[in-house]
Amino acid sequence: MSLLPFSSQLVADVGISLGDEGKGRLIPEIANELRGTPAAVSVVLKVNGGANSGHTAGGIKLNLLPAGVVVRDAAHLCIGSGVVADPRKIWWETRPLEHKGHAILSRLLIDERTLVTDPLHRLLDLAWEDYRTKVLAEEPRGSTGRGITPAYLDEVGQWQITFADFHAGSNYFARKLAQRADRAMRIIQHVCRVSPATFAEFFDKLTAAELRANAEGIELGVFPKDEFDFTRFRGREPFTLELERLTAAYWQAGTALSKNIGEVRELILRELAAGHTIIGEFGQAYWLDKRHGFSPNVTASHTYTPEFFESAGIPVQRIHTFGVAKAYDTKVGTHTFVTQMADAHPLAQKLKQIEFGTSTGRQRMVGWFDAVEKGDVLRYGGFQDLMINKADALTYSGEWRGDLLICAAYEDASGKRYHHVPRNEAVRKTLRPVYSKHPGWTEDISQVRRFGDLPVNARRYVAAMVKSTLDVAYNGQLPGAAALPNLRYLGVGPEPSQIIKDVPATAELVKLV
Ligand code: IMP
Repeated sequence: MSLLPFSSQLVADVGISLGDEGKGRLIPEIANELRGTPAAVSVVLKVNGGANSGHTAGGIKLNLLPAGVVVRDAAHLCIGSGVVADPRKIWWETRPLEHKGHAILSRLLIDERTLVTDPLHRLLDLAWEDYRTKVLAEEPRGSTGRGITPAYLDEVGQWQITFADFHAGSNYFARKLAQRADRAMRIIQHVCRVSPATFAEFFDKLTAAELRANAEGIELGVFPKDEFDFTRFRGREPFTLELERLTAAYWQAGTALSKNIGEVRELILRELAAGHTIIGEFGQAYWLDKRHGFSPNVTASHTYTPEFFESAGIPVQRIHTFGVAKAYDTKVGTHTFVTQMADAHPLAQKLKQIEFGTSTGRQRMVGWFDAVEKGDVLRYGGFQDLMINKADALTYSGEWRGDLLICAAYEDASGKRYHHVPRNEAVRKTLRPVYSKHPGWTEDISQVRRFGDLPVNARRYVAAMVKSTLDVAYNGQLPGAAALPNLRYLGVGPEPSQIIKDVPATAELVKLV
């Protein structure tokens, strides 16, 4: 049985948990499905966030460029106005990829209103974490250290530098950057009360992070190591900078992109009129949304479908939302993770071997599939299709043969049940998961390509993930078949080919439970 085509030329690729769901691999899948049709994918638009997202597609890891890079026949790779982009980071990703034969510059269009971010935002990000832990004696927020919150603060604070500024004179840019630097140094020293030694260490931290992130570019001989040396921007005195050097590096990187800066909104309107499909690639996920997520462990952008229109700069219209999840949950940072598995659990030990953040390399926490979170995303965010990845990782290995768990509700100390995510974080933090139990399977499913060929317990577990999500979203009263989202893709391994695409339509699937 094959499902209907997508319900719009606009497709939003969004996470429905806390990031790292495998949104990158969805992009080539959608492109494959539409290739050769009039609605072929012509644009992949990065919608939100910046270099905090980590997408893996076709074996390539990307933080800032759209993962649509791997769709070689997508004519346009766009960066929307809702993104915060570091022009040097754009080069750090572009040049190694071009070296390996990917066409980037001929396809890249950065919107004029995209926000420019630079190492000052990254220093501030580190300084605010230092302030939280040392001055306030609180938990760190768990930021990726990519300067995301300070970058968006410059948007709401009306201190924007946008990519359009690289089309203007250098004096204007230098003045704005100098003002930004002055504010940053004062905040770091006087508000965050960072020590001189810690201030100096920030530059070493940034160097280490970018040496790690750009190891391949160095190995390929595309960049010398000192390209990533942030200590050359550190001034001789504490809380000072080599501002001229910083300004020159950023002016050079930004103006070198001059031909790639323009009107994303016009391009999208044109491609829509031509009948093509535009994929909106989102960073992070619903529960990391700055408004609806688990504050303060969230990112500073909007991470769900409505932001497509703001970032693209086009009218609100029908859009097809593709929600992406994993067959279990993972989190990075310092979140309260209601369904977290104990570290000693045999499955946790196995999953932890494959769960490291794409952008930072941090070990992810692992836990059971939380259908309450997913169901609320369906209810309040909405999605028409689902992709669930990494079902193969749940296959029994070693001695352990226990049940697989799905969180269908939460419970407080008095036994009161919660069927939705409480909006008060202080309440959420006190809750325990209520699980349904599902026997697992021993057969290797990574080579299975037809749903019917999966072991029966794997089919039942997949059906239970979907059914539990729907029960939360619709309070147990499922709507008619046509209104139900479908599980269009089930990932059973990291390779692009390791996907099952014939999962029965949801009304049929849920009968397996
Ligand atoms: P920031 O976006 O760097 O400020 O990080 C804020 C929170 O979002 C932290 O808990 C990060 O770990 C988390 N986060 C940001 N980007 C991602 C992502 O792409 N995947 C998973 N978590 C993310």
